[in-house]
Amino acid sequence: MNEKAVGRAIKKSGVPRKEIFLETKLWPSFYEQTDAVEKTLKRLDTDYIDLLLIHQPAGNYIAGYRLMERAYKEGKVRAIGLSNFTATQIQEILDICEMKPAILQTEVHPYSQEQKLKEFLAKENMVIQAWYPLGHGDKVLIQEPVFSRLAEKYGKSNVQIILRWHIQAGNVVIPGSKNPDHIHANFNLFDFSLSDEEMAEIAALNKDKRYYTSTPELLERYVTMVPPVDEQK
Ligand SMILES: NC(=O)c1ccc[n+]([C@@H]2O[C@H](COP(=O)([O-])OP(=O)(O)OC[C@H]3O[C@@H](n4cnc5c(N)ncnc54)[C@H](OP(=O)(O)O)[C@@H]3O)[C@@H](O)[C@H]2O)c1
Repeated sequence: MNEKAVGRAIKKSGVPRKEIFLETKLWPSFYEQTDAVEKTLKRLDTDYIDLLLIHQPAGNYIAGYRLMERAYKEGKVRAIGLSNFTATQIQEILDICEMKPAILQTEVHPYSQEQKLKEFLAKENMVIQAWYPLGHGDKVLIQEPVFSRLAEKYGKSNVQIILRWHIQAGNVVIPGSKNPDHIHANFNLFDFSLSDEEMAEIAALNKDKRYYTSTPELLERYVTMVPPVDEQK
């Protein structure tokens, strides 16, 4: 729902398009619309997308994947991937695809580290991208004593320790923030590193806790839910 604003912001920034990595997703109710990618490009006011994902394994996601493959061949999309797919659903795509997905975007944070899924992805040369990397801002997670201790040791914030952990764990990380100071701080992660022992301490926080639970009912609802994209400001 923010593609038009993102397109305007890219233009307004003056940053050359080729220096921006632009990622977006196709929503389930658009999987069978043959011009869904072209409409997305139009909303973004650009002629290519760096990474386009299938948002949910809902409805006719094979048709959605085919749309992305076609857009890739036409040079409208540079890479394609999946979001919220399980290993079984990813395998289904791998079995039928012409063009392999490059990435899986799914919920990953210190309380849900998805180690088994990552092993599956690594075998397929796929990368994991962590949504809710900060547990959607959950204070209990962010204030875990291990993060406070490491933050003090490295002169960083607890959030920076969590983001650094993601990077060292091989997770592409997309923290959300509406605060410019936080956005700056979230890039400032490359002048220190966590030791193997510290990485192991954070690994021990895993408890397979998810903040979002998908259900068949929800997925079915997503297919009929048509977001009013054309009314975007
Ligand atoms: N594929 C999917 O189905 C799916 C589902 C959910 C989310 N996502 C994507 O995942 C991304 C992240 O999701 P999210 O933003 O909901 O969760 P998140 O990144 O885990 O957490 C965001 C929260 O952390 C806070 N925060 C960020 N940086 C901070 C800092 N340096 N210090 C203190 N607090 C900080 C933010 O507050 P401030 O604004 O105050 O900084 C915000 O409350 C988004 O791009 C979203 O679109 C994808």
